Amino acid sequence: KAQLNKGLPLSGKKVLITAGPTYEAIDPVRFIGNHSTGLMGFELAKTAANLGAQVYLVTGPTRHSVVHDNIEVVPVVSADEMYRHAHAYFKDADIVICAAAVADYKPKTVAEQKIKKSDASFTLELVKNVDILMSLGEQKKEQFLVGFALETQNEVANALGKLQRKNLDAIVLNSLQDKGAGFGGTTNKISFIDTNSTITAFELKTKAEVAVDIFNEIIKRRYA
Ligand code: CTP
Ligand code: CA
Repeated sequence: KAQLNKGLPLSGKKVLITAGPTYEAIDPVRFIGNHSTGLMGFELAKTAANLGAQVYLVTGPTRHSVVHDNIEVVPVVSADEMYRHAHAYFKDADIVICAAAVADYKPKTVAEQKIKKSDASFTLELVKNVDILMSLGEQKKEQFLVGFALETQNEVANALGKLQRKNLDAIVLNSLQDKGAGFGGTTNKISFIDTNSTITAFELKTKAEVAVDIFNEIIKRRYA
């Protein structure tokens, strides 16, 4: 296997990817989640694997699956679980891409029994989830660390803010300006922004093609 992968652009490299949504339990039968399908993360994993890398794909609940010699899929449910698995692999990783749509908040407590309806209104107290990407940024050594940003206003300024705050090497701005971009679909329109604030804007493409663009930009900056 190692022999087959020799001579590819990412031969001998280790790539960590987070993908999908996280589900934050409310009680045994309910959760807080979001509409992320995980497809972008799976396409990134496949692209990295085809470029010769050994890939560790930590994914929240998803209908996608992948079978590839170079990909280890690690299914998780909550942000806390995703955090643990991401950190377990981080030290060994050369490239890390956080594509997961992590829930920003989780219920303060998880009810042991199914919550019964009673009053006309119901309040659920939420607490902030751990920021996985930010915590990886704090521990970063040689890793090339990439985040995603989905913004609906002040797109570039907000993305640059996240790039700096989370100590990233690049951020992929998901443009929602076009129909067909972002959650759910099979296409995406992105800009790749690096630490020099260089913005490389791409056309609307399939998420598989977007994944190739993203790795081209990373390889250019780190291995070219
Ligand atoms: N992220 C993460 N852990 C979290 C929240 C976000 O790892 N708890 C990562 C996402 O995977 C993404 C990046 O941080 O790569 C940006 O996520 P986003 O939701 O756009 O930004 P937030 O920092 O959560 O800020 P906000 O939602 O308020 O815009
Ligand atoms: Ca968020």
